[in-house]
Amino acid sequence: MTTSPRTALITGASAGIGATFARHLAARDHQLLLVARRGDRLQELAAQLTEQHGVRCEVFAADLTDPAAPAAILDHADQQGLNIDILINNAGLSGKTAFADTPWEVLAREIQLMVTAQTELAHRVVPGMKERRWGRIVNLSSVAAFAPPAASLLYTGIKSYVLNTSQALDMELKPHGIHVTALCPGFTHTEFHDVMGTRDRADHLPGILWQQPDAVVAEGWAAVMKGKPVCVPGTVNKISAAAMKPLPIRLGYFVGKTLNPFKNS
Ligand SMILES: NC(=O)c1ccc[n+]([C@@H]2O[C@H](COP(=O)([O-])OP(=O)(O)OC[C@H]3O[C@@H](n4cnc5c(N)ncnc54)[C@H](OP(=O)(O)O)[C@@H]3O)[C@@H](O)[C@H]2O)c1
Repeated sequence: MTTSPRTALITGASAGIGATFARHLAARDHQLLLVARRGDRLQELAAQLTEQHGVRCEVFAADLTDPAAPAAILDHADQQGLNIDILINNAGLSGKTAFADTPWEVLAREIQLMVTAQTELAHRVVPGMKERRWGRIVNLSSVAAFAPPAASLLYTGIKSYVLNTSQALDMELKPHGIHVTALCPGFTHTEFHDVMGTRDRADHLPGILWQQPDAVVAEGWAAVMKGKPVCVPGTVNKISAAAMKPLPIRLGYFVGKTLNPFKNS
């Protein structure tokens, strides 16, 4: 009996961890629907993956800060006859400027991208997964979710939301054959710090703190396959997460206020 290939929807697939997930899943015979704003990059990656692995790879250019984007992406999947079995909620970035100096529209887009769109995509794919009694959702959180809040960044709060709700959804959905995993990388070599404008400061951090996206995705996907609700990839990140989590609130506040190398001005 031949089984039809699973289909994975990956957001933020034009670079970094998302593009790495696309390569990893294509090599495992999954069909892909790749989403990001830079459609040219998605097309190029899709063509490569189809040529290398013979898998179907569709692309949909969308800006996930547009509240209409999640519905548009899933309408497109429907039109293409693709059932989403795997959702990799990966697109993300960190704000660059202090809260009070940042126009509300910019902050609202950050929240829309990493909180609302991510949550809406999950909500829209779950009914189909429930019907088929199989689904995997990976939400990109961060080791920052275990860290104290960092001065003037929404990022740690957003990634804490992702970590918390991923576990809550996993508890609800596991009986239906759907596993949800919060993947919590630490510093990973991608375009993240170029986009954030913190490349100089990032490059001064010790090499031991950094991972390649391939290592993050390989460990993350293995955790998904084992049905783990939380994955902190890499030994150094595991130690950091375990060490930071139990900090007393006052000490955590001090650390977050003084030791964040990416503190916005
Ligand atoms: N790198 C790290 O150190 C690190 C650590 C912990 C967690 N993470 C998390 O990992 C995830 C992936 O980040 P990365 O490190 O791979 O960064 P990256 O190389 O900068 O990739 C970010 C991806 O998100 C997409 N994206 C950004 N804004 C978007 C929008 N408005 N609409 C649609 N797509 C958008 C980008 O595509 P377009 O620009 O083409 O739209 C790109 O494909 C993020 O959620 C990040 O918070 C990263």
